[in-house]
Amino acid sequence: KTKRRADYMPPAFTISDVKMDVVLHPTAARITSYLTVKRLGNHHEKLILDGEKLVLNSVKIDGKITQDYEQTDSSLSIPNVPNSFQLEVITTIDPENNKALEGLYLSSGVYCTQCEAEGFRRITYFLDRPDVLATYEVTLHGNKNKYPTLLANGNPIARGEGDNGSHWVTWQDPHPKPCYLFAMVAGDFDVLTDEYTTTSGRKVALELYVDKGKKARGPFALESLKRAMKWDEDTYGLEYDLDIYMIVAVDFFNMGAMENKGLNIFNSKFVLADQNSATDEDFFNVESVIAHEYFHNWTGNRVTCRDWFQLSLKEGLTVFRDQQFSADMTSPLSNRIKHVRVMREHQFAEDASAMSHPIRPDEVMEMNNFYTVTVYDKGAEVIRMLHTLLGKKKFRKGMDEYFRRHDGQAVTCDDFVAAMQSVTELDLSHFALWYSQSGTPLITVSHQYDETAKRMSVTLSQHTPKTADQSVKRPLFMPVAFDCIDSKGNHYQDDEQRVKNNMLLLNEPSVTLQFSDVTSALIPVVLGNFSAPAKVKNPLPSEDLLAIFRFARDAFNRWDALQQLYDWCIEQYALGKPEAVTASIWDGLKEVVEREAQNHELLGECLVIPSFETLCQSRSLVDVEQLRQARRAFCQDFAQELATPLLTVYKNIHTGDYEYTLEAVNARRCRNVVLNHLARLPQGQELVCKQFNSSDNMTDTMGALKAAQHGDKEQFEKLLASFEQQWREEPLVLDKWFALHATQERDDILSHITLLREHPQFSIGNPNRVRALIGSFAFYNTAGFHAIDGSGYKFVTDYLLMLDKTNPQVAARIVTPLTQWQNYAPVYQEKMKVQLGRLLNEKGLSRDLFEKVSKSLAYD
Ligand code: ARG
Ligand code: ZN
Repeated sequence: KTKRRADYMPPAFTISDVKMDVVLHPTAARITSYLTVKRLGNHHEKLILDGEKLVLNSVKIDGKITQDYEQTDSSLSIPNVPNSFQLEVITTIDPENNKALEGLYLSSGVYCTQCEAEGFRRITYFLDRPDVLATYEVTLHGNKNKYPTLLANGNPIARGEGDNGSHWVTWQDPHPKPCYLFAMVAGDFDVLTDEYTTTSGRKVALELYVDKGKKARGPFALESLKRAMKWDEDTYGLEYDLDIYMIVAVDFFNMGAMENKGLNIFNSKFVLADQNSATDEDFFNVESVIAHEYFHNWTGNRVTCRDWFQLSLKEGLTVFRDQQFSADMTSPLSNRIKHVRVMREHQFAEDASAMSHPIRPDEVMEMNNFYTVTVYDKGAEVIRMLHTLLGKKKFRKGMDEYFRRHDGQAVTCDDFVAAMQSVTELDLSHFALWYSQSGTPLITVSHQYDETAKRMSVTLSQHTPKTADQSVKRPLFMPVAFDCIDSKGNHYQDDEQRVKNNMLLLNEPSVTLQFSDVTSALIPVVLGNFSAPAKVKNPLPSEDLLAIFRFARDAFNRWDALQQLYDWCIEQYALGKPEAVTASIWDGLKEVVEREAQNHELLGECLVIPSFETLCQSRSLVDVEQLRQARRAFCQDFAQELATPLLTVYKNIHTGDYEYTLEAVNARRCRNVVLNHLARLPQGQELVCKQFNSSDNMTDTMGALKAAQHGDKEQFEKLLASFEQQWREEPLVLDKWFALHATQERDDILSHITLLREHPQFSIGNPNRVRALIGSFAFYNTAGFHAIDGSGYKFVTDYLLMLDKTNPQVAARIVTPLTQWQNYAPVYQEKMKVQLGRLLNEKGLSRDLFEKVSKSLAYD
């Protein structure tokens, strides 16, 4: 059942034109497809089309009905076809009972589709692979009252009325596309409209479709879209290529959003936002996802993937582009820290697990399992390294060349690298190893100071530990931002000037830098701006870390030095010697708060203690309970020791009326991070309540609510109840409340969640709800999920056994924490594996879960 990248074969046939006629019906929608099929090359093979969960009504070849075909539950084979012909296939599907949310389904009364990666085969028989590009003309028929809006890709070219109150609309998409970009929608919406004129003068109608009554939450998404369109023109010279751009928000959606040509379909949580219901983070995510999907129009749609192993070709590149955009719209530092948190919390964990794979995977059982942090986020880091190595100008040149060569084609990651290679002297052949080698490289820094010779030497060595999928690793080519300072903040250059513009190109197992005529030991500052997706081991005493915080040029290094300091402190607590965190360290931290009190962006980030998940990545065989207690005790002491300066910061930040501006976002962020610490102290309670009651926006409300969980339990329950009272009719807002419940440390957490599953707004059929309640528990409730008796693991497993029957894709996401057992102490591992075993034994387990669970159990 495993497919291999090495086995790629071009298709035996292609389909150049598709005409579809769709008669909507909740349980029996009828799809008629007319395909222009052509044999490719000289052969006599039969035509094999993909199809799943389809009822076949009829097959015609060049207008003549035929019975000469073979059907399996995943294919339709037709032997003896001409070299070039028209194929008509009629099928019937059942959108209402499609709970997997792939293909055509009903989302609270709205028909919509999700075809990536292999969902089109659930609509009609087709060559469901991204290297078959066709133009589409689609006619939708539906009831005019219930579905006044009928949409598909491209431009509307005709419409009319039918019998029994029905109407129809025909859409034509002139750009040849793979079927995973196909989309259609039918419903009754509120519409926001706008217009955008491209630099070369094309007028584009913008249309945003949202649930009736939600119009007021749409403008931010629409404004974001215009900013993204402008940015892509300014930054990459890329313009939109149709007269209409539509975005539809739906409530039931497996992922974030989908870049269907001219007709994006979004999870409503990445569209709807206003100050009352959305946090600053929600606003940020809306803008970034809107941009991501828009940017796909070039990186994904105009130039697409030859096969699904190449997914990072479009996803890594598009994530990099949306990251650049967000950094330009907001600020580079907080964005960079966000990306690094994702890498350290999730991608490093994936690489350490049985699911480890290169950004361009070699083997896949279920493609939906490979929409991963590795393909997306590590993929973006690889593009970012290219950007660093080539520089902004050459990178742009390379992108231009990529589009010049491949516009309208389905290509590979190698094609992308080749386009980049064509604009640089730098040999990228070694660099390309990032595409095929999995695992997280570890950069170890060691240094020696020879006092008599006044010489300092610093050695950086790299090593990538073997992973579940590959046992032999080679050294990588990576840009390592490097600086060397002394304790007074002077910067030093190495003798041979191997470091140029603060960048060291590491392409060997190790490199040693010499520094002469230095009068004291220097402090190496490594991997500025997270210049490569690597771990760093650079053990430095606390005073050196504080010196880096004070003097490093790179803001990311400054933040990271404190992260390392916190990590070390927590380790001392875990070892039972909290006294190792001396008064002078606390003084150093106080000074940080006082000195940076005005710099809300930096301070806000620097006061975040590394998450439990991040701490796990610098440890092995984690004793969960011990580390959790250590982190908690450190946080408590942190609040106590820094109470005075933190209180001052809190009181001095006045945010005024809500505005979504950079300064205001940074101020709120800093204030809420500080409140989260203060809430652990008696004097924090009052502040929390005051903020909760006086807040005019969701950011401060949630800030207070989250902080409240560290204080008096009764108080916290009261605030939670009042929040629910206010938002009980708004499931999207209630998700925040579900998630907060699910991550509580309480002895009765399992019965508590069981109770919440009965909440009128909870539904197992809605992925947002399931992720909020069950996903948050599995991913972030350390105490509950890792309960030593195994009850948390069992609880999640029981739920997954049920969920897998209807929505395997979401089930396979939520199983992730269980599959990462290798990170924990044996007592935990054993209990996790017991539950994985239960899953594996389940009859009819989905391919999605089977792939992850079987790999996980086979790993040792
Ligand atoms: N291409 C979409 C995006 O990144 C993701 C869709 C993936 N969906 C899926 N079911 N695997 O924006
Ligand atoms: Zn994407």
